[in-house]
Amino acid sequence: MAAALNGELAAGGSPLPEMLSAKGLRAYFPMRGILGQSAEARNCEINATIGTAFEEDGSALCLECLESMLRLPSHAFLYAPSAGVPELRKAWREMLDLKNPSLRGQKCSLPVVTHALTHALSVAGQLLVDPRDKIILPDLYWDNYELLFDEGCGASLQTFPTFVKGGFNVAAMAKRLLAPGDKKVLLLNFPNNPTGYTATDTEAHAIRDAILHAAEAGKRVVVILDDAYFGLVYAPGVRSESLFPDLAGLHPRVLVVKLDGPTKEDYVWGFRVGFMTFGMQGAEDIHYRALEAKAAGLVRATISSASNIAQQLLLQAYRDPAYAAQKAGKFAILKARYDRIRELLAAHPEYAGAFEPMPFNSGYFMCVRPIGVDAEAVRKRLLTEYGTGTIVLSGLLRLAYSSVPLARLDALFANLYQAIRQVRDASAAPGRPAANNAGGG
Ligand SMILES: Cc1ncc(COP(=O)(O)O)c(C=O)c1O
Repeated sequence: MAAALNGELAAGGSPLPEMLSAKGLRAYFPMRGILGQSAEARNCEINATIGTAFEEDGSALCLECLESMLRLPSHAFLYAPSAGVPELRKAWREMLDLKNPSLRGQKCSLPVVTHALTHALSVAGQLLVDPRDKIILPDLYWDNYELLFDEGCGASLQTFPTFVKGGFNVAAMAKRLLAPGDKKVLLLNFPNNPTGYTATDTEAHAIRDAILHAAEAGKRVVVILDDAYFGLVYAPGVRSESLFPDLAGLHPRVLVVKLDGPTKEDYVWGFRVGFMTFGMQGAEDIHYRALEAKAAGLVRATISSASNIAQQLLLQAYRDPAYAAQKAGKFAILKARYDRIRELLAAHPEYAGAFEPMPFNSGYFMCVRPIGVDAEAVRKRLLTEYGTGTIVLSGLLRLAYSSVPLARLDALFANLYQAIRQVRDASAAPGRPAANNAGGG
């Protein structure tokens, strides 16, 4: 079955098989096993195939106490297909066009449903990344990538400095793409965790051009887009669409996989539903169906299928006429916090002597670099003396303003300022060694 799918991937001389990892080439969806045989028997009068249980009247057998909690039909208690609930996959595909107008009319795969973004990253890793491959990414990244790609795939993260002159360091990324080696795996995450940065429109074009340049130079480029925070862009001139439409039709040697989902976009962190969608210039239905089957096989091998209840709830939400307005309302809450942070930073010039905000324009977070003091010492001081929790990463303090009410933002920054001054004063006291700023970001 894997060989048959690989044959389909190679149809028309496509270089797709060479984009996949060895594991990806071995992956297949077991169409002829229990699932396939069950599908064939779907319309039988007596169906003794799959391991689910039904009432005497043929409805799904479920506990009434659970059923009464949910306004969903009892079939929501059954397994979802490994590739996801078909109507939800279709709805998400249609929503991709609405959210990314440049995608309209472009060919890409149907989204395959995963157990949210983390699992989508893991499936993408298995499908596309071999042990000892290098993954190119900015040096400020979500720390779970280490478990996912270093530990999970045996690959290594090859970082470049995220920022140069207050913007995204496209030149450093381009240099990595052109380094020796035929296959390049690039991982981009906009809006970014931890920085809350999204490439500007100009930078997005430059990123696309750098990827095109690498492909024209003969590289096979696999781009993994972690679009977990898609849509949360607050500033003008910042790329509001995914990079997916730019890359899906870019070059026959550029394979892009978009990983996204409702976790952050629709504020359902615990639902555990995500999507992976493939795009490549020249790829046809036969190629996309084969990629989907391989991804679904990896889903089947790891979690069998994502939560049907969560998928059914989301499908109903996306069909709800109130969905768009409610979503816009939640966006406005987060944007108001972003705007307030901009205002308060402008209103407190003294803060500039204590910390430097990293560029930010989107998402859930922003980062600051404390000046002349150790970020970890500041974090501890904030925790013990100011009742204020933050995260330290690569010598920076990450502030998740997504979780701080508007009315507390001024206090968050005032506490930060005071804590930095205190740590500085303490380390300048006679007999104390000077603080070492362990900056690495
Ligand atoms: C950049 C990034 N990608 C992926 C994820 C994982 O998302 P999910 O909860 O859907 O697995 C997170 C969660 O914090 C994240 O910050």
